[in-house]
Amino acid sequence: MYQDHFSLSASSPAGTAPPAAPAPLRVGLLGLGTVGSGTYAVLQRNAALIAARAGRRIEVRMVAVRNLARARTVLGEEPGTPLLTDDPQALVCSPEVDVVVEVMGGTGLARSLVLQAIAHGKHVVTANKALLAEHGAEIFAAAQARGVVVAYEGAVAVSIPIIKALREGLTANRIEWVAGIINGTSNFILSAMRERGLGFAAALAEAQALGYAEADPVFDVQGTDAAHKLSLLAANAFGTLSQYPQVQVQGITAVDAADVAFAEQLGYRLKLLGIAKRHGTGLELRVHPTLLPESHLLAQVHGSMNAVMVKSDAAGITLYYGAGAGAEQTGSAVIADLVDLARSASLAPAQRVPALGFASGVQPGLPVVGADDVESAFYVRLDLSRPDATVPRVLQQLAADGVQVQRMAPHPHPSDPELRCLVLLTAPLALRTLRPALQAVEAWPTVLGYASVLRVESLA
Ligand code: NDP
Ligand code: HSE
Repeated sequence: MYQDHFSLSASSPAGTAPPAAPAPLRVGLLGLGTVGSGTYAVLQRNAALIAARAGRRIEVRMVAVRNLARARTVLGEEPGTPLLTDDPQALVCSPEVDVVVEVMGGTGLARSLVLQAIAHGKHVVTANKALLAEHGAEIFAAAQARGVVVAYEGAVAVSIPIIKALREGLTANRIEWVAGIINGTSNFILSAMRERGLGFAAALAEAQALGYAEADPVFDVQGTDAAHKLSLLAANAFGTLSQYPQVQVQGITAVDAADVAFAEQLGYRLKLLGIAKRHGTGLELRVHPTLLPESHLLAQVHGSMNAVMVKSDAAGITLYYGAGAGAEQTGSAVIADLVDLARSASLAPAQRVPALGFASGVQPGLPVVGADDVESAFYVRLDLSRPDATVPRVLQQLAADGVQVQRMAPHPHPSDPELRCLVLLTAPLALRTLRPALQAVEAWPTVLGYASVLRVESLA
């Protein structure tokens, strides 16, 4: 059987006392659900290895939950088991705790506890992207004023060290765009619908049972969770504070299976993407279902996996792939932050890696480009009666309004034998140009029902 052989006590010459082991980093865990229990399990299992890397032990001293009985089944009764409490306030001001790991979720109590922890001089590690997207400015400012760290690798694309990549690995680069699949639940649902023919509700129920979904899964399927994460990626890529309220968000709830099938016949796959991109002196910040060429690397990301692609001036395109949700997968990222802290806690604040990657010059916000001005190719589906007469008129109208059609494919309507679906792929253009053309044709009596409009990206 494999046994850790790591030891923290340096060997000492014969007859001399061994040097004292360095003081452990003492952790208080706020929450012991999916992420909390995954973090605890990995810290226990790999304790010696983690200590060898960190230079000192990382010990969970206290755990706060609501349901003590359930938490006892996770922690067990062994000697050295952390103190369990249902009073999170006691944890955040305990003198037995150096760093508070917030993995309880939410933005109300979590915000207040994190601010209290900071006020008591505790470092904070959190996987709570909603908290940082909404209250990051306040929390990072409080941490800076108190000289403590707020670390959050687990908040974005869990097992992928993307915050470290942007903040440290790509630090030499002017980043052009960051784009990725950053919500595991919605990618799991889209994959299950496509690969196993599962319905939306059944696929979501599976994702929930596997612990991938947020406490309120509306955050996953409506794109909010991806928008939270995108705002953190953009902050690190472009040196802004979180601009979460400005992210254009569209989730997967309105995705029509017929469009997925039609797009596949044209060689495209549908993915929920988050895209943050320089645009003049501002930014595009958007989350929406997107068609990608089927050969694109991001189109190969299935199930709850995530992937983030970064285009930067010196490194070029880099790609990061890994689990997008899950207990130990997130625990891995939380512990990476704890190891960074164990190594750097004694440094002066100015010597630590800055929270958002920029030691100076962080801007409160860059102008965000509205959806109408963002250019891309589009997939458009129109449901028609009398297609022989209507299709030529549609093409004439689009051409007159400056919309260049690159490909066109007619299909039987998925449920109404009287109708035809006309699928069009446009050349890149702004939505501002496409919208009036579509409004004109939708007003005709032979153009019926809902017209799907999806962005198509090449991310080349
Ligand atoms: P869970 O619902 O599984 O766990 C939440 C934990 O917090 C539970 O132990 C719960 O206690 C505790 N808790 C909640 N409210 C309170 C309270 N008022 N007082 C004390 N304890 C409380 O959530 P997850 O582990 O899935 O998610 C936690 C955070 O991590 C969220 O911010 C989420 O967005 C984020 N995250 C989740 C990932 C995932 O894959 N699930 C991945 C990355 C980030 P009790 O059980 O007793 O109710
Ligand atoms: N609910 C989130 C997701 C968890 O599915 O991506 C990881 O942040």
